[in-house]
Amino acid sequence: MNALDRANSAVNAARVDPRYRGAYHLSPPSGWMNDPNGLASFGGAYHVFYQHNPFAPRWGKMHWGHATTTDFVSWRHEPVALAPERWYESLLGCFSGTAIAEDGRLTVMYTGVSPFGQLQCLASSADGLSFERRPSNPAIRAKDLPRHASVFRFRDPKITARDGAYYCLVGARDRRSGSGIILLFRSADLAGWEYAGDAWSCPDADMVECPDIVRMDDGRDLLICSPTNIRKEGHRNLHSVVYSVGALDTVSGTFRGSPYRQVDLGYDFYAAQAMKADDGRTVMIAWMQMWKRSMPTAELGHGWAGSMTLPRELTLDGDALIQAPVRELSAYRRGAVRREAVAFSGVLRVDGVEGDRLELAIEADVSQARAFGLRVLAGKGGATVIAWSAESGMVAMDRSGCGVPIRDLSAPARGTAGCGTRSARVDTRGGVLSMRVFIDRCSVEVFLQGGRATLTATVYPEDGDTGVEFFSEGAAVIRSLEKYDIVA
Ligand code: FRU
Repeated sequence: MNALDRANSAVNAARVDPRYRGAYHLSPPSGWMNDPNGLASFGGAYHVFYQHNPFAPRWGKMHWGHATTTDFVSWRHEPVALAPERWYESLLGCFSGTAIAEDGRLTVMYTGVSPFGQLQCLASSADGLSFERRPSNPAIRAKDLPRHASVFRFRDPKITARDGAYYCLVGARDRRSGSGIILLFRSADLAGWEYAGDAWSCPDADMVECPDIVRMDDGRDLLICSPTNIRKEGHRNLHSVVYSVGALDTVSGTFRGSPYRQVDLGYDFYAAQAMKADDGRTVMIAWMQMWKRSMPTAELGHGWAGSMTLPRELTLDGDALIQAPVRELSAYRRGAVRREAVAFSGVLRVDGVEGDRLELAIEADVSQARAFGLRVLAGKGGATVIAWSAESGMVAMDRSGCGVPIRDLSAPARGTAGCGTRSARVDTRGGVLSMRVFIDRCSVEVFLQGGRATLTATVYPEDGDTGVEFFSEGAAVIRSLEKYDIVA
């Protein structure tokens, strides 16, 4: 950033009100954050870049913000890594992309948004902090595209190295059908790229954003991507993050996998990206937000907007994705409260179980109950409700009565309080419902049945609303309850 931009960013930084800032989630030091970009392990730290407007808590010309961590819980803010300054970024800046660490350098590929289209560009760094653009940029230009792909909806490259070559997935739109596709490009040296095929297509969407691919322990590929304006039953948000398990065939240039499913069934989860941790774990991070929603921190003049989800460890069970919060979080647990075998019906409050920076782990026998759940961040401003019902077989989340209202600005749900409810089907045939709930001031993330389903929400409770209440219709037994304050 130049000196004027630094000064403007400092003006906004002075407006930051920390009231709703998460204590153990990554959010920008000030200004706006969306997608995670370029997740990589490099130089002894994990790097997370992100879409960033340093000047205001609103989307604007995109920069790459930057944070590092060694444990996915404590974050260190680094200087802005990319600020728009070349002709090929001159329209809307530096959009989402990928990173690859090799031969002591960290190379990123991102989308430059120029007046002539969206073009894929390279920059690299020896220290992981300051980046130099390749003089030969853009690396993938309009002329490299197949005729059926629109150069104005061609973005978010993800590089993967396979069999001695580099492959790059790029989100796009098929101009013939108007539906979402992922294009595959091949390169011997990262510099020159050729189109290798339409790797995947999503007829239910009008574009695919933020494709990601990672190889799982059993050798299968996990494809994660973000189809936009998706029209499909069960997809309750404007855009979705979906996954498919299969194989990227670099010869035919296609990915073949299981029917796609949603990664998270909550309100706020988008543009997810995954990486390999140094010990081989697959760790995913998503933007904890959705487009076309009102943003309370921006409206309240707090000078910042947007956070990432907890980094989540991914494993597969068959073709099903299992998500667990990173295990490093357990080192930040304080103030444990534990209970066992608590039978109740009606409402239950447990001494010492409250707070707004918490982990709750609950295992309940619900075999005799008609409904069971909890209200968190409860108080005079309402609560966020997480409720299982025997009749539906679902766990539903409802934030409509919690604190500052969040409005859906997208048709057709425009104006619905709190954007309605969200729900996930759970298998309670063994009579047991298990939940891990992470609360961090403005967020609630729920991992159900050992991470077989997740529900993620942002919420903006009133000051002092830190209550936790359990409720049951019919007899429920909390077999075990653990509460920890998470102190980061
Ligand atoms: C997804 C996205 C990407 C784009 C970026 C712009 O949230 O729309 O497709 O690169 O955000 O900030």
